[in-house]
Amino acid sequence: MIDIVVEVARLEEIIDVRHQVLRQGQPRSSCYYPEDVYKHTVHFAAKLNDEVIGCASIYKESHPDFSLKQSWRIRGMAVREVYQGQNIGTQLLETCINHVIKQKAGVIWCNARLSAVKFYKNSGFKIIGDEFELPDIGPHYLMAKNLGIHIGQTRFVEIAKKLFASKNPIPAPQAKINIEKH
Ligand SMILES: CC(C)(COP(=O)(O)OP(=O)(O)OC[C@H]1O[C@@H](n2cnc3c(N)ncnc32)[C@H](O)[C@@H]1OP(=O)(O)O)[C@@H](O)C(=O)NCCC(=O)NCCS
Repeated sequence: MIDIVVEVARLEEIIDVRHQVLRQGQPRSSCYYPEDVYKHTVHFAAKLNDEVIGCASIYKESHPDFSLKQSWRIRGMAVREVYQGQNIGTQLLETCINHVIKQKAGVIWCNARLSAVKFYKNSGFKIIGDEFELPDIGPHYLMAKNLGIHIGQTRFVEIAKKLFASKNPIPAPQAKINIEKH
C-alpha cells in the first residue's frame, strides 16, 4: 500500500484529477459544480509527494426527494487510474464521512456510478431506489449511509425508499460555469 496524505484542498488543486478521471474528453469547465463554492463545501485531496492523485468533495445538500435531516452529499470522487484499487478512494471517502459526522450529519449520500457501487457499499452505503441514467455518464444508483445512531440500517433504507419516490434524481453536473482558465 502506498503512503498518501488526505487533506483539505483548494478547488483548483483537484480540478485536473476530476477532469482526467470523471470528465475525460469533456471541457474542463464541465468539472466545476455550482455547489463547489457553497459556504459549507470542503474539497479533499489525496496527495502522494505533494502530487494530487485523488479527490472528493462534500456539500451540505439534501436530495430533493430524500430530505432526511442534516443531509450531506459526496461528489467528484476520483482516483487517478494508475493508483486505483489501493485503498486511496476509501481513505478519501472515510475522511469525508468523518468530516460530516463532526458537522452532526444524519445522512451522507451520492449518485454512484454502477462501477462504483461496490466501493460505496464497502463503506456502509446502501442502494436506495432504482437504477437511473445520467446523460453522457451512464447508469447510477442513489446511495446513502445512515450516520444517525437512532435508526437501524434496515429501517433507514425503508424510510429512505419511501422518501425517494421521484424518478428524477439530481442530475449530474452539467454546469457550464465559465471559469475556465484561458
Ligand atoms: C471509484 C474509485 C473512486 C475508488 O477508489 P479506489 O482507490 O480505486 O478504491 P479502493 O482501493 O479504496 O477500494 C477498492 C474497491 O472499490 C471498487 N472499485 C470500483 N472501481 C474500481 C476501480 N476502477 N479499480 C479498483 N477498484 C474499484 C472495488 O470493488 C474495490 O472493492 P473490493 O476490493 O472489495 O473489490 C476509483 O476507482 C475511481 O476513481 N474510479 C473511476 C471514477 C469513479 O467511478 N468515481 C466514482 C463516481 S460515483
